[in-house]
Amino acid sequence: MRITVIGCGYLGATHAAAMAELGHEVLGIESDPVKRQQLTEGRVPIYEPGLSDLLSHHVASGRLRFTDSWAEVADFGDLHFLCVGTPQKAESLAADLSQVESAIEGLAAHLTRPAVVVGKSTVPVGTAERMARRLAEIAPAGSDVLLAWNPEFLREGFAVEDSMHPDRIVLGVTDGRAEKVLREFYGPLIDAGTPIVVTDFATAELVKVAANAFLATKISFINAMAEVCEATGADVVDLADSLGYDARIGRRFLQAGIGFGGGCLPKDIRAFVHRAGELGVEDAMSFLRHVDDVNQRQRGRVVDVAQAMVGGLAGARIAVWGAAFKPDSDDVRDSPALSIAGALSLRGAQVSVYDPRANDTARVAFPTLVYAESAVDACLDADLVLHLTEWPEFRNITPDHLDRVVSRRRIFDGRNALDLEAWRTAGWTARALGRP
Ligand code: UGA
Repeated sequence: MRITVIGCGYLGATHAAAMAELGHEVLGIESDPVKRQQLTEGRVPIYEPGLSDLLSHHVASGRLRFTDSWAEVADFGDLHFLCVGTPQKAESLAADLSQVESAIEGLAAHLTRPAVVVGKSTVPVGTAERMARRLAEIAPAGSDVLLAWNPEFLREGFAVEDSMHPDRIVLGVTDGRAEKVLREFYGPLIDAGTPIVVTDFATAELVKVAANAFLATKISFINAMAEVCEATGADVVDLADSLGYDARIGRRFLQAGIGFGGGCLPKDIRAFVHRAGELGVEDAMSFLRHVDDVNQRQRGRVVDVAQAMVGGLAGARIAVWGAAFKPDSDDVRDSPALSIAGALSLRGAQVSVYDPRANDTARVAFPTLVYAESAVDACLDADLVLHLTEWPEFRNITPDHLDRVVSRRRIFDGRNALDLEAWRTAGWTARALGRP
């Protein structure tokens, strides 16, 4: 089918490349001229495993192109996927929907023939209904232009894999024609056994924020338990392992540590709280404020632990391993690792950061920190090493790599991913959140 992808950031670029791989003809529209030029040359402006190869392959095959023209987009596509960002507003917890609104306005004016506009962006419940009304008002083709809501659940680091093998397809529709076209479009995935839920707009919008709210709650639950573990001498890793064997609970997203960050979970739970307030169900969602508080508290706890370990932050030399909000990503949006590094620096520590992929993005966000060329370089004369993003390469570093590099043999594991016993046996002081 001939489809367009509106907004070619992390979500849109992945969707565009993955749908070309499924056999569709894809035209992406991207307003940022620098990004558009990179994409047109088959280059991906972000680090995402597998995406660069897939995108360059389909740019070369001619199945994937990019433009900045709404008229061309409207003329080309039968299906238009809306993949623009919905960041948190600067002045409140709410989601900023300006990109969604301007995309609908920009596209609708050119829709002179039947088409389905498919929202994939994460939006507050009620947005789809509002956008459907705008489309009907503006589009010259009137009721032949349909809206559907089809939330995206892909994870950074696994975006290609999640797009090619989604664990479910959710379609919010109000018209059987939209469902028919989308079932045809996703035919290869549905034939491969992907479950599909066809529902109304509101449910489709809610599934996405509810999923992220649940995941955030699970992480904050185990981090709250980590605080209890510290007060009692219990071990949060053994606790999580034991809880995880209960199939009703499961071990995933029970990894205690410095908490969640990124461009999705934090802003989505805040936007959800805000929207719940508008809908008069604030009390029902107020627990998400605690989820956010527990999450933010982890960052402060690490600063306190670091201070206690070095005996005063002013002038202390601290190595920080990791800047990305999670491994296999160069994304530093709301990254707990970078936020901790910044807080330590503001309190007078000399912080040297190393991330295998995110040094450059981190430097843009936090130019005043020092960025090292390797994990070992970051540790030169360090009084303390902080492991804050669990890249596999950090787990491969053993005490003997660092014994003669650091000034003091102290390490803190903010992700509960290192072998603390091995470090202690080698004579290091090793600590973690929620562990004796
Ligand atoms: C999240 C969701 O997992 C995706 O399903 C969703 O599609 C996406 O948001 C989105 O809304 O677009 P992502 O932001 O890529 O995906 O990252 P996650 O893998 O969910 O991790 C989020 C944060 O939680 C990371 O900072 C990670 O380090 C942290 N985390 C995760 C923990 O601290 N503990 C855990 O056990 C798991």
